[in-house]
Amino acid sequence: MPGSDPAKTHAAILAANLVQSGMVIGLGTGSTATIMIKRLGERVATEGLVFAGVPTSDASAELGRSFGIKILELDQVDVLDLNIDGADEVDPNYQMIKGRGGALLREKIVATAARRRIFIVGEDKHVERLGERFPVPVEASPFGVVHTAHALAKLGCTPVIRPAENGTGPYITDGGNQIIDCRFANGIDDPQALDIAMKQIPGVFETGLFLNLASAVIIGHNDRAELIEVSPA
Ligand code: 5RP
Repeated sequence: MPGSDPAKTHAAILAANLVQSGMVIGLGTGSTATIMIKRLGERVATEGLVFAGVPTSDASAELGRSFGIKILELDQVDVLDLNIDGADEVDPNYQMIKGRGGALLREKIVATAARRRIFIVGEDKHVERLGERFPVPVEASPFGVVHTAHALAKLGCTPVIRPAENGTGPYITDGGNQIIDCRFANGIDDPQALDIAMKQIPGVFETGLFLNLASAVIIGHNDRAELIEVSPA
């Protein structure tokens, strides 16, 4: 399947090819997940693959439906067999930052409901230290969002309330929340401690730190993809 980014495409296709009939699959969000969902749609059409998808965003639900994938709400299933999603940064211990696409709360809830979680990334997502390239997105209550941002700043970051893509007002998530992007000038010293500290702030619903969640990571390169098994802690 052609894609504008060969590394993402190789990773996405390898993951989609792991799906088997009868499974319940978490459908991630973002450009890599989009390629994966398209490939699943292709398999539905050409191989008669039959499975159900639990989407992590309205966009992924719409895309899945457009490809003839059966879409279920998370609460219609007990457990997912597999969740497949992208990531923004992956460190040497397979800890991750996600949420550039603004779907981090649903992404984390769906990932946590899955027996196995595969994250699909192009090789450019590798970092030595989380936070060295991207801010940590934090999904927060719109009520008092400026106060929540000030509280986050006390943890050593520069918080920015994410604007809407069209520039009118703040970005609003599918769940009606806002995103505060927290940039750490020198990356993050202790992601685990930061995650705990952020979640203690009233108004913070979830962070984009995806720690100890990867069962496996598929890293795409220009000419291939490699699947790395990870033992979640
Ligand atoms: C959305 C996400 C995405 O998975 C992440 O931003 C990666 O996106 P892409 O595949 O477009 O690089 O976390 O909230």
